[in-house]
Amino acid sequence: MYVCVCNRVTDHEIRDAAQQGIGSMDELCAQLQVASCCGRCRDCAHRVLHEALAERWQPRASAALG
Ligand code: FES
Repeated sequence: MYVCVCNRVTDHEIRDAAQQGIGSMDELCAQLQVASCCGRCRDCAHRVLHEALAERWQPRASAALG
């Protein structure tokens, strides 16, 4: 789905960016220009990024506990 309509950025692109090492909204905005126009997508983009980061770190956390 489109998260940022102004810049045509999808949730998949945000998840891919997180997998490639993007770790903050500032970095996401710099790379994909999310929230750089009207800004309405900022909260949704933030939520998608945090979900993706949680998924990214989950395997390492599980390995550390195991
Ligand atoms: S919807 Fe993302 S900047 Fe407008």
